[in-house]
Amino acid sequence: PTVEYLNYEVIEDHGWSIDDEDLFEKADRLALSRADYGEFELDADGNGSLLEAAEERGYAWPFACRGGACTNCAVAVVEGEMPSPKSHILPSDLLDRGIRLSCLTAPTTDVKIVYNVKHMPEVSDLLL
Ligand code: FES
Repeated sequence: PTVEYLNYEVIEDHGWSIDDEDLFEKADRLALSRADYGEFELDADGNGSLLEAAEERGYAWPFACRGGACTNCAVAVVEGEMPSPKSHILPSDLLDRGIRLSCLTAPTTDVKIVYNVKHMPEVSDLLL
């Protein structure tokens, strides 16, 4: 699968919303760094997490526990499928909104994801 990614900080900096329909088109029009916006191919074997795949490609995405307990690695799946295992900290309403923990799982289809969403109020509130 192809992973198209965008840093949540870009959304914040431009006053955009994660729900904007043309979010990735708007990002594509800016001259963003490869760290903030781009895409990469995931291996088809389905092993490993999205976080590990990003790290193997040289990206420094946020994480802490690597075990589903902290939400630092949270991403928002804007398009496509990324299954979620049962044991983790995320409440069901965030799962319904497409929030996933990138240390636990990886996409099974082409996806558009926003990483670094630990700064989204809905996610950061969990840590209070
Ligand atoms: Fe802590 Fe993924 S790194 S939940």
